[in-house]
Amino acid sequence: MCGIIGYAGHRPAVPVVVEGLCRLEYRGYDSAGVAFVRQGGLRVMRAKGKLAALEEKLAQEPLATATCAMGHTRWATHGVPAERNAHPHLSNDGSLALVHNGIIENYQEVKADLASKGYVFHSETDTEVLVNLIAERRKSEPDLLHAFAAALREAHGAYAVCLMHSAEPETIYAARMSAPLIFGLGTGENFVASDIPAFLPYTRRVIFLEDGELVRATPAQYEILRLADLAPVEHEAQTIQWDMQAAQKGGHRHFMLKEIFEQPRVISDGLTGRINAARDAALLPELDALPVPRRLHIVACGTSYHSGLWGRHLLEHWAGIPVQVEIASEFRYRDSLLLEKEEMALVISQSGETADTLAALRIAREHGVPVLGLCNVVGSSIAREASAVIYTQAGPEISVASTKAMCSQMLTLALMALYWGCRRNSLPATRRRELIGLLESLPALLDDYLPAMHDRARELSRKYAQARNFFYLGRGHCYPLALEGALKLKELSYIHAEGYAAGEMKHGPIALIDPAFPTFALALDDALFPKVKSNIVEVQARQGKVIALTNPGLDLAVDDPWIIPALPAPLAAFAALPALQLFSYEMADYLGKDVDQPRNLAKSVTVE
Ligand code: F6R
Repeated sequence: MCGIIGYAGHRPAVPVVVEGLCRLEYRGYDSAGVAFVRQGGLRVMRAKGKLAALEEKLAQEPLATATCAMGHTRWATHGVPAERNAHPHLSNDGSLALVHNGIIENYQEVKADLASKGYVFHSETDTEVLVNLIAERRKSEPDLLHAFAAALREAHGAYAVCLMHSAEPETIYAARMSAPLIFGLGTGENFVASDIPAFLPYTRRVIFLEDGELVRATPAQYEILRLADLAPVEHEAQTIQWDMQAAQKGGHRHFMLKEIFEQPRVISDGLTGRINAARDAALLPELDALPVPRRLHIVACGTSYHSGLWGRHLLEHWAGIPVQVEIASEFRYRDSLLLEKEEMALVISQSGETADTLAALRIAREHGVPVLGLCNVVGSSIAREASAVIYTQAGPEISVASTKAMCSQMLTLALMALYWGCRRNSLPATRRRELIGLLESLPALLDDYLPAMHDRARELSRKYAQARNFFYLGRGHCYPLALEGALKLKELSYIHAEGYAAGEMKHGPIALIDPAFPTFALALDDALFPKVKSNIVEVQARQGKVIALTNPGLDLAVDDPWIIPALPAPLAAFAALPALQLFSYEMADYLGKDVDQPRNLAKSVTVE
């Protein structure tokens, strides 16, 4: 988590870096800082809290001359959110400054060793240890590049780092290991950052640095080297196709709202080029070279895990492939993973950087099964390490809470089920044609319904804003949606919410129901509707209030019915998902919460 940026160029560097940090704030926002060289010395400015606090400090500072700088926005791992723990960190002699995203696992040992040599530490961070280790290695290795590499070779764990030296005011050094770092090539200026939007206003030409690579850049030159032996590495620069427009709010109050309303576009983009001319087959050339799996193990975290749970229904029903879905942080510590030849792992991750999911990918590869990645971020670690990757093409998702990414993952899973259903002959062409027609109808349908859905979400959020608890209930393909609805509500509004399989309520949780504990039920027009209806009646018999997301013409009496357009199951999820997202969005906004950056969270969870 944390976002880093480094700049070496011809512009006033601190504003460039602060602007970049602003676009990286989704990665962490409990403190921020910048470093630049002034009058031959490193000047470090840091502040606890959001970037605005740092900007206030910087406003008092003469910055004009620096054309090289670096910055950091933090999500605390080692050490509480406080100015002393904010980055950049300085070496004891004040000659080096370092920003870091990741965790140095052996920092305690290194710290003890450095302390025995007289180093003192002013923070609780692993980063301050690393910058002093570089300073120590410099005593025997005066070339900073070599000292930097030597120290990094001793550091175990994950890092993306950027380093500056007081005697080289125009140079940035950077390196990565298991944490994202992208190099941006401008004209007379170069950048490194944790994510592309940080420097997108200045260049779209990028190099995705690999693990174990180090870069040294000045405004006019750069070199990329292998950390192991400092041998030069050649990379071809790629040109990013999306622009700042895609990374900005586009007139909406929050990124989250913009991203919810982008879902019709996400579906049409996700279908483009993936349906054959006869409109009866999905085209996924990424899968052509892989055998159809005998069993699929889906591994993911959070919202991506919910997509996987939903996708299981389609993969089993349409393609006839048995599917196991597991949370990555559990999967990675299982003793008997039962991964056998002819099976396949599918890791789902919007960011492509989630540490647990990446670890699961590596474990699955060690078991010798092909690993398919379903990622949104192009060039991310998971995308690069998977045997094959399918991009979900949702565009940059900035809001910390994931919305359109889930929609794009669901769409891709539906296409995969169609694709394998066709290869396995388990889904007749007529049925495939019908399903493809339905998928193609979704963008227009959602475009029509989203404004009314938003109004209803606003209305219901006002009515239920006093609730301190919520149940979300669903069955079958609606169960993953219940989990997702509850996750969205708790992470955005800090209201306790539990997603539950409706049929499980009677096995204990129903004891919690009383007039102050409302239930949000998913009661759509599908085979399980009568069962869900019975579960709702059981809640009502305990004086529980019920909001029900339901379809026209269904016989259901609840306090607050919320009618959404009917679609055959399981595709009905595409209409239910935005309703759940909008309800949580409105609830959080009404309660005055920070919608795009909820407390304690970060967008990209690169720690275990
Ligand atoms: C919830 C949310 C998280 C992520 C989870 C996995 O709104 O955003 O639960 O879904 O951290 O992230 P990715 O998909 O990047 O692996």
